[in-house]
Amino acid sequence: MKILIINGPNINMIGIREKNIYGTLSYEKIIQLITQEGKKRGMEITCVQSNHEGDLVTWIQDAYFEKYDGIVINPGAYTHTSIALLDAIKAIVPLPVVEVHLSNVDERESFRHLSYISQACIATIKGHKEQGYIEALDILQAHITNN
Ligand code: DQA
Repeated sequence: MKILIINGPNINMIGIREKNIYGTLSYEKIIQLITQEGKKRGMEITCVQSNHEGDLVTWIQDAYFEKYDGIVINPGAYTHTSIALLDAIKAIVPLPVVEVHLSNVDERESFRHLSYISQACIATIKGHKEQGYIEALDILQAHITNN
């Protein structure tokens, strides 16, 4: 099972930025954890991160052409602004996508309450910090096995 983990702008600053909101684990440690947990589940995990919206769109399209089985995405602030990401996820249906946010965006500023991509994702996990990515792997595995 091939899974692509896509992280958006400023997620590489996790462990440095707003630790009270996002936690103290570094981006590198989070990637290590996801890769380890993926291996335990028999998954082949690829992790990518960019601060540029177009890179995220291209990686979503690549996942389709490179025959990935599923995507976990934390688009950072593009969650709340990007119709391009929504269109990209809609374009690759039925490839399952799980949206993850380290923080509970619903309990923060009102501009973080809207996610454009949610409607095209099979699940959204908010506020479980790095564990959210692991939960996303389990959701994908169950979905892929049952479909
Ligand atoms: C985030 C929440 C977004 O609102 C914010 O812009 C981020 C991180 C999260 O993981 O909680 O960069 O996606």
